[in-house]
Order: sequence, then C-alpha cells, then structure tokens
Amino acid sequence: SSDVCSSDLANDPGMAARMQQIENQTNSFIAAHKYQTNSSQAIVTIPVVFHVVYANASQNISDSQCQAQLNQLNLDYARLNADASSTPSAFTGVAANTQIQFCLAVRDPNGNATTGVIHKSTTTSSFSSNDNVKRSSTGGDDAWDASQYLNIWCCNLGGGLLGYAQFPGGAAATDGVVFLYSSIGSVAQPGTYSPYNLGRTATHEVGHWLNLRHINGDTNCGNDLVSDTPTQQALNFGCPAFPHVTCSNGPNGDMFMNYMDYTDDGCMNIFTAGQAARMQALFTTEIGRAHV
Ligand code: ARG
Ligand code: ZN
Ligand code: CA
Repeated sequence: SSDVCSSDLANDPGMAARMQQIENQTNSFIAAHKYQTNSSQAIVTIPVVFHVVYANASQNISDSQCQAQLNQLNLDYARLNADASSTPSAFTGVAANTQIQFCLAVRDPNGNATTGVIHKSTTTSSFSSNDNVKRSSTGGDDAWDASQYLNIWCCNLGGGLLGYAQFPGGAAATDGVVFLYSSIGSVAQPGTYSPYNLGRTATHEVGHWLNLRHINGDTNCGNDLVSDTPTQQALNFGCPAFPHVTCSNGPNGDMFMNYMDYTDDGCMNIFTAGQAARMQALFTTEIGRAHV
C-alpha cells in the first residue's frame, strides 16, 4: 500500500523544493518551541469536506458515518480517545493532545450552505491510488479549494488499499486523503472492514497530510524525523505484545500503538509531542494547511 504516489515528485518539478521549504520551517518551529507546544499553541480547526463517491448503495456511506469519522479524528487528535488508557505507561509521558481539530464545512467554495458531505454516484466500481477519484472527469469528484478545506474522498479502493494521502507541498487539485468506504467510522460507530473499521485509517492518513512519516521512516530502523518516537525496524501489523524490541530500542521497544504504524485500528492510541510539533509547525508556514 502507498500513501503518496512516488510519481508525484517526478511529475511536479517544484514539489521537492516546496517539501524542503516546509521541512526547514518545521525544524525552525520545533527548535523555537522545544516541544513545549501543547499548552502554548492555540487550537486550530480544519474545515473538512467528505466526497462520498459510490457505485452502489453500500459504498454510499451515510452522513452519520462521516460524522462518526470526524468525531474519531477529533478524539484521537485531542487524546480524548477512550483507548488512550491502553497506551503502555512507558510511553504516556510523550503522549500528546495535538491541538488540531476538524469540523464539517458549513459553506461550500461559493459561500452556499452545505452539510460538508457530498454524495456523488460513479460508474467506476473500484479506484486505486492514481487520483481518479479526485476528478469528476475521471469518475470521481473535484477537490474543493485546498487552501480552505481538507478534502476527504470515500470510495471503493482495490488492491487491499485502505487509504492514501498527499503530503504538504503537492498539487492543490489532488490535495487531500482517500479512504476505502468501509474503513470510515469510529470506535463508537465502526465501519464494516474489521479490523480496520474504527476510523484509524483516517487518523493515520490525515497524519501524513499533516506531514507525519511512518514511524519506522519507511526503511529498516529508519528515521521518522521525530525524536520522541523510538527507532524501530519495520511497520507492525496486528497487535504485538508489549514490549516488541527491535533496532536495540529496548526496554520499551517499538511504539507499535502509534497511529503512524500499521497495526489494527483497535491497537492504535497515541500521537507524541514530537509528532504534534511537526503538525503544528504547518500552521506557521506559508505552505501550510487550511484552518479557521
Ligand atoms: N495506507 C495504509 C494502507 O492502505 C493505511 C494503513 C492504516 N492502518 C490502519 N490500521 N488503519 O495499508
Ligand atoms: Zn501511511
Ligand atoms: Ca523517531
């Protein structure tokens, strides 16, 4: 599964430079705040539009299911998730409220009232990570202005893909996150794709959209650019027993319960202060993210 099309970098000559600029600004922000961000940063709220692109009735998930997903994002990003109590005590010291929240859009780009959920029928029975779902001309639904909204597309995805995200610095027309419709939901109102049905695919992909990397840096004992997450060998699946020691990261081992790992939705329960700082840095940069 992929979170960003590697072809984006090849197709967009300015993208690497924009991503480097964001990284420089992120590092300046972190150096200035020394992770003391949780209490000092104001809460930022990101307006969201759901594009439900469906080829049959079960793919046409309800407004209530989208609201449940939004609720889970808000709980997880505030560390108000009920399963925060499942974080091993070895890691609770770095657990963070990110100070980032989400709301359904109440105005569309023309200023008209909206529910924040668009239902659009398609004849495309299955989408992939090629961004066709992001354009009406290719069977999907066009993005709303990425400088004002987080675009969330929900559709049928093939190939076992749960979702994918575009990192900051990419093209506005394809900006946002895409999900398998049956992954959408919450702990309280799950989707149908167990064990990936508690809304944590969205928590994970929105983490990428807010500039977070996978917790293993996508290489063997790699670097996720976050100092308070342990170096770990690989992404984990299922739900390992604590501690799961790799890369000499004992005694506490991998932070496999981090939202930026690949464990089951019911196993994930934490963002760290370092991850929160990377995300918050976006709201101080010129190439930042929409918020009110
Ligand atoms: N892009 C990843 C995939 O499609 C998302 C994994 C999310 N993991 C989860 N437990 N919800 O595999
Ligand atoms: Zn990912
Ligand atoms: Ca780390």
